Amino acid sequence: MSSHEKIRQLIELREKAKLGGGEKRIEAQHNKGKYTARERIDMLFDEDSFEEYDMFITHRSTDFGLDKEKYLGDGVVTGHGTIDGRVVYIFSQDFTVMGGSLSETHAHKICKIMDQAMKVGAPIVGINDSGGARIQEGVRSLAAYAEIFQRNIMASGVIPQISAVFGPCAGGAVYSPALTDAVIMTEKTSYMFVTGPKVTKTVTGEDISDEDLGGATVHSTKSGVAHFRVEDEREGLLLIRKLLEYLPQNNLEDPVVTENTDSIERSDDILNTTIPENPNQPYDVKDIIYSIIDSKEFLEVHRHYAKNIVVGFAKFNGMPTGIVANQPNFLAGVLDIDASKKAARFVRFCDCFNVPIVTLVDVPGFLPGSQQEYGGIITNGAKLMFAYGEATVPKVTITLRKSYGGAHDVMSCKQLRGDINFAWPSAEIAVMGPKGAIEILEGKKIASITDGRERVKYIAEKEEEYREMFANPYEAAKYGLIDDIIEPRNTRFRIIRALQTLATKKDVNPPKKHCNIPL
Ligand code: HXC
Repeated sequence: MSSHEKIRQLIELREKAKLGGGEKRIEAQHNKGKYTARERIDMLFDEDSFEEYDMFITHRSTDFGLDKEKYLGDGVVTGHGTIDGRVVYIFSQDFTVMGGSLSETHAHKICKIMDQAMKVGAPIVGINDSGGARIQEGVRSLAAYAEIFQRNIMASGVIPQISAVFGPCAGGAVYSPALTDAVIMTEKTSYMFVTGPKVTKTVTGEDISDEDLGGATVHSTKSGVAHFRVEDEREGLLLIRKLLEYLPQNNLEDPVVTENTDSIERSDDILNTTIPENPNQPYDVKDIIYSIIDSKEFLEVHRHYAKNIVVGFAKFNGMPTGIVANQPNFLAGVLDIDASKKAARFVRFCDCFNVPIVTLVDVPGFLPGSQQEYGGIITNGAKLMFAYGEATVPKVTITLRKSYGGAHDVMSCKQLRGDINFAWPSAEIAVMGPKGAIEILEGKKIASITDGRERVKYIAEKEEEYREMFANPYEAAKYGLIDDIIEPRNTRFRIIRALQTLATKKDVNPPKKHCNIPL
């Protein structure tokens, strides 16, 4: 073969590999409203930055006639490219090749780039679109999955791992995304479940659709498995680019500070009147978040799940920062099991990638009741406390209004190594709210007042007395439990100055194999 022919052969093989399972299957993929593995990569990466690995690999199986069914690349496209000029590794499953099913070879390709991403210290993105273990390969594909899981575990907290689920992801396959930092699901075209509808029906008798069992809506609202729900793949790919902007390449680096055009001294008078006079009246904490961050750009995580707490990424003078905020607009901002898990996971995400945390507190306490107690609110609330107490990144806390009881301690209080703790004049830092306190302290006296009007008057007087005494920030300030009481309109500036001051902060935890977080 002449050198000219050799080059032509290479070009032809490349073209063949790029066709995956062939034109017909590509068309079928498009007809489902889905892009192909390579189209997704092109949309995600900076132009012409993608370098592909193992394009000519094929599986080595012979059972079930597989020796006659081989496709170059074996159902997954792997390699690296750049996003905003920074190196990112990727695997993108190709549903047009045997339904993107995972063979031993397919898994080896994924493991190869995971290993290299770890050595290089660069994030990895996984685009999942697969019928799961390649059935013809039997148990070998189970072992191959476990090879990937082990690498997901080792990479956790070392390099950012982002999973996009753009198609089926069933059986044990779901555990790879579940082990990563963020899961994105597309509406209507993706689903994740350990056991599909057919087996569910056989085993339990429950008749349920793919969508209702494991669609994007279910996982972004009920289970919390999906951190983000997007309308389509294009939105999902843009979201990956955005998310990586807030994260460093690995745990030894800091997130990149970008240019900021929003004045750091911009004060917002409306904040001085944002908190309603009536302490039981709700308000939207997101209004406060948008008012204090750079250019109103907030990337909310878990937007549809446990709405009583808001978490997400923003920037302060260009510094990527995680925000955790109780949401009085939903269940009065109470901490329940789901909210505790959601926030704990986010705090740990920030801490392992050196992203400082700003916490906005307005929490009436933990949600009472048997449902919560039986569900383990104790263990789950402890997760959030553990996450804050263990975190060594800069932590700035602002108490906006209520900060009661155990929830006060949990929400990044001073003694959980909160670095700078501010309070607004509207803050009420106390063991419990006036109503609950008076019921306990004055219960017997109240019961002894037979005249209804007198009783109501007495309760109101006592509550007011309690509020004057404890439901304010000055009692906490007196003991140094907060560092300063600030005028709300200056919050943005005070946070930026705090974060700048804390940028060189060093804090460590004692040496240990690993902690025993209350999982
Ligand atoms: C081999 C597979 C496959 C698989 C799909 N295909 N899944 N080949 N192994 N797991 C092939 C199909 O035979 C078909 O080939 C092509 O991919 C497209 O599949 P269709 O069924 O035509 O597509 P669609 O109607 O869109 O349905 C997609 C699907 C369905 C819902 C994913 O294919 C399906 O149910 N597959 C099996 C899912 C499953 O049970 N997997 C095992 C999970 S357990 P042709 O040649 O006809 O186009 C598991 C264990 C992991 O994964 C454990 C890890 C610890």
